[in-house]
Amino acid sequence: MGTSDAVGNNAEVFNYGIVRQFAIMTVFWGVIGMAIGLFIALQLIWPELNFDTPWLSFGRLRPLHTNAVIFAFGGTGLFATSYYVVQRTCQARLFCDKLAAFTFWGWQAVLVAAVITLPMGYTSSKEYAELEWPIDILITLVWVAYAIVFFGTIVKRRVRHIYVANWFFGSYIVTIAVLHIFNNLELPVSFMKSYSAYAGVQDAMVQWWYGHNAVGFFLTTSFLGMMYYFIPKQANRPIYSYRLSIVHFWALGFTYMWAGPHHLLYTSLPDWTQSLGMTFSLILLAPSWGGMINGIMTLSGAWHKLRTDAILKFMVVALSFYGMSTFEGSMMAIRTVNALSHYTDWTIGHVHSGALGWVAMITFGSLYYLIPRLYGRTEMARPRLIDLHFWLATLGVVLYIAAMWIAGVMQGLMWRATGVDGTLTYSFVEVVKATYPFYAIRALGGAFFVAGILLMSWNVFLTIRAGEKGINPVVPLKNPDARDPALVGPTPVLA
Ligand code: HEM
Ligand code: HEM
Repeated sequence: MGTSDAVGNNAEVFNYGIVRQFAIMTVFWGVIGMAIGLFIALQLIWPELNFDTPWLSFGRLRPLHTNAVIFAFGGTGLFATSYYVVQRTCQARLFCDKLAAFTFWGWQAVLVAAVITLPMGYTSSKEYAELEWPIDILITLVWVAYAIVFFGTIVKRRVRHIYVANWFFGSYIVTIAVLHIFNNLELPVSFMKSYSAYAGVQDAMVQWWYGHNAVGFFLTTSFLGMMYYFIPKQANRPIYSYRLSIVHFWALGFTYMWAGPHHLLYTSLPDWTQSLGMTFSLILLAPSWGGMINGIMTLSGAWHKLRTDAILKFMVVALSFYGMSTFEGSMMAIRTVNALSHYTDWTIGHVHSGALGWVAMITFGSLYYLIPRLYGRTEMARPRLIDLHFWLATLGVVLYIAAMWIAGVMQGLMWRATGVDGTLTYSFVEVVKATYPFYAIRALGGAFFVAGILLMSWNVFLTIRAGEKGINPVVPLKNPDARDPALVGPTPVLA
């Protein structure tokens, strides 16, 4: 067992055990969450697939899908990468092994509880915060432990500078704690049943303040932390503009907080609040694209690597989808555009262009970088399978979102079409019928995506089997103020 002071070629200087546990479970939950996504996509084509069984019904499996992909796949991946990045960039072992182990087992317990209770029909009915109060309490405990481990490591760092990826991870941890606690203030009336502390329009406002910032901080800021570490490392180039990354950080965090009301346009929410949400959503485009450009420009001088490096391909395509989905989101937040897109599959297309294109792709890229290093190898056991995974995933997302865009705009237009006498041109069921072919294309895209992650699990299994644990030496930093040149260039930190 090493300590943070015992820097040298000591296998145990960093706590990689916990990173390995989280990394493996990320792949596991990815398979589960996406397979359920595919299953509910198929149910929308063949409703009989619910086999007349309540716990297999769409209404119960849909929140299971969202929880499994966001909190199980995404969340577990964030634990793995943030624990790795904070140790490497601080050159310090994770603070308190026992607490770190608690975050692993506690988080897995939350996820298993979700897998059991959601199909049973227990739900607080708040989107992305469906889990009932006993599980909410466990989440809070795990999250506080996470904050102590993460910030404890920052405090004991051996490098004076706090690398920007840690700022992104840190703000995600703090913000999610605040969002989770305030949105889940509720009155328990029995074991597994509670009522929200808020009523009516206030409830809706708090819910979408939470919901939008869950997107902003759980699915974006945190994954930008991944981006700011793994892209420079994989490209072996310093981040394009370190100054831009700091501006990006503050601008993004400040703007996201106000955009929530764009989920409640044309509702009983006061009009000025809706306008505020719309305005901030438009402003949000600037920091979002600033971050995307910073990531993509990091490849300047290394573009040729994209021809052969499948991991970089994952990362660059992830950034492109980040740019696309944020542009699309800002447009959808414009009232008149939202009048067409709201309630349609366009929203589902937007969600998955962010979720599959950005969140899943950047996670795959980062895991392909991380996993061999955790098992003492220089690369994955089957590098060519990474390329195949990349193409399956890319084709899968494109099929998914193109189908949903067409379906969404078509639905919006059909719903609003009226004859000269003012009656509706189409009945609802005609719109459903017209949507069928697009559901089939979406399911095909989903099947490609699931096939990709199955390939990844096989590759991970082979890598672990062939690898050796714990032989990742720590390169001692001669100057405690020196920065990793692959992250911020050769300039040493001043002051
Ligand atoms: C194989 C991959 C996937 C497939 C086939 C899939 C499929 C689906 C389907 C069919 C729905 C329900 C749509 C509806 O109600 O009409 C859905 C909703 C959703 N999925 Fe996925 N999904 C996949 C991956 C993911 C991933 C990786 C994420 C997040 C990281 C994600 C996040 C969501 C969210 C947030 C919703 C709810 C959207 C909303 O309420 O507007 N999905 N998905
Ligand atoms: C500049 C950034 C973004 C803006 C302004 C934005 C804006 C929007 C808007 C206007 C909606 C539709 C609300 C409605 O009509 O109900 C929406 C829905 C959604 N967006 Fe975004 N978006 C952004 C980025 C992203 C990203 C990067 C992701 C995923 C990683 C994402 C995930 C979602 C989800 C999950 C929903 C569906 C929420 C629900 O109704 O369940 N968004 N977004």
